[in-house]
Amino acid sequence: MDSVDHIIDPDFYARRGYPYETFRRLRLEDPVHRCAPPGVEPFWAITRHADVCEISRQPALFSSATRPVIFLEGTGLVPAGSAASQLRVLVNMDPPEHREHRHLASPWFKPRTIRRMEERVDQVCRELLDALANGGREAECDFVAAVAAPAPLRMIAEMLGVPEADEPVLLRLTNEMFGASDPEFQRSGSDAQQTFMAMAAEIFGYFAKLFEERRREPREDLLSVMAHQGRIRGEPVSVLDAVSFCFIIATAGHETTRNAIAGGLLALIEHPGEWKRLRENPALIETAVDEILRWTTPVIHFARTATEAYMLRGRTIAKGETVAMFYPSANRDEAVFEAADSFRIDRAPNPHLSFGIGEHFCLGTPLARLELRILFRQLVERLEHAELSAAPERLRASLVGGVKHLPVRYRLRTA
Ligand code: HEM
Repeated sequence: MDSVDHIIDPDFYARRGYPYETFRRLRLEDPVHRCAPPGVEPFWAITRHADVCEISRQPALFSSATRPVIFLEGTGLVPAGSAASQLRVLVNMDPPEHREHRHLASPWFKPRTIRRMEERVDQVCRELLDALANGGREAECDFVAAVAAPAPLRMIAEMLGVPEADEPVLLRLTNEMFGASDPEFQRSGSDAQQTFMAMAAEIFGYFAKLFEERRREPREDLLSVMAHQGRIRGEPVSVLDAVSFCFIIATAGHETTRNAIAGGLLALIEHPGEWKRLRENPALIETAVDEILRWTTPVIHFARTATEAYMLRGRTIAKGETVAMFYPSANRDEAVFEAADSFRIDRAPNPHLSFGIGEHFCLGTPLARLELRILFRQLVERLEHAELSAAPERLRASLVGGVKHLPVRYRLRTA
């Protein structure tokens, strides 16, 4: 098989989008494929839905602790001993430690608790769409800057207790986190690694200060709950643990949802027939949200390291070797999805793996779904027409991918 190194190459994602054709070949010809791109420690590319499930459900055999993503180590973004390497985030923990930490915030993310946020999400989306109307009934905007980025950012900020005035700082930091390898988001005079390190130090300082403030004066946010009720093995939550939690929520909860929103509008623009169906039958919003999640698959990969030799489809993954699970490929697996390359807003069942599966299944799933449901319901109601006014620009990244600028010309419905 020709080289498939581009499945992990940020430049490819920036220039050409997701390599669906390569993923298709890998699924059919070599679904457990050994990759050794120059400068990157070798890994096995896992491209079938069933294999992603098999690996994710066995955290004792496939550890998240040593190498949870490919590009960080490969490009040396996080040197050992740095502030970033000390963050203790859920995505690189194994049970039992992982469960103890996850439990800190899991009550907060229960569907019942999240439903209480419904009114606020509705209001935030309405305000952002009202702002679109300020440009007149017909206008142009970068949909990412105007709606897709601020909507989830505001919800995360409120959940954590970040004041509205600090949202621009949070926006910049999350851009730097996932876009460290994208020149647009690098700090001036800094390369990817320097940008990442500076971002990690700043995020650390910011949340450590906020945590201390909430310790003194609690409010009704997640940070206050962690400061006053949070326990890990019976001990109060340390600053490092609280900051690590804020770090993962601020980053995992923003960029992903933003790309699903931007990619979702792009999908509707590119499939006018499906958009029309949704407009005529808004009850399809539930299945449409899942299809948008499958279609956009904002998280490109997560990795695990084998704790002992494991046989998968006739290949031996040796102890200490890494497997990288490619979610966009699993979500187009022809063995699971009928007409996998078609965007169908009424697809059901839709067992996509956009949120992962098993031990590390995305904690923010109920919030992400709520945001997408409310935003797309409002968009369908209020947007009479939208089309691209220039080509979309894609993020230069191979961890969380998607559209970083979506220039659209739109026409709003009259009230
Ligand atoms: C469309 C939006 C989202 C997508 C596609 C997404 C996707 C994912 C994926 C693929 C994982 C890793 C699964 C694995 O390694 O097996 C994950 C983990 C996680 N996500 Fe999300 N996510 C989204 C939104 C959110 C939101 C809104 C939040 C929080 C407010 C969030 C918080 C987390 C956390 C904390 C983890 C780590 C869970 C763990 O390791 O136990 N995510 N997400």
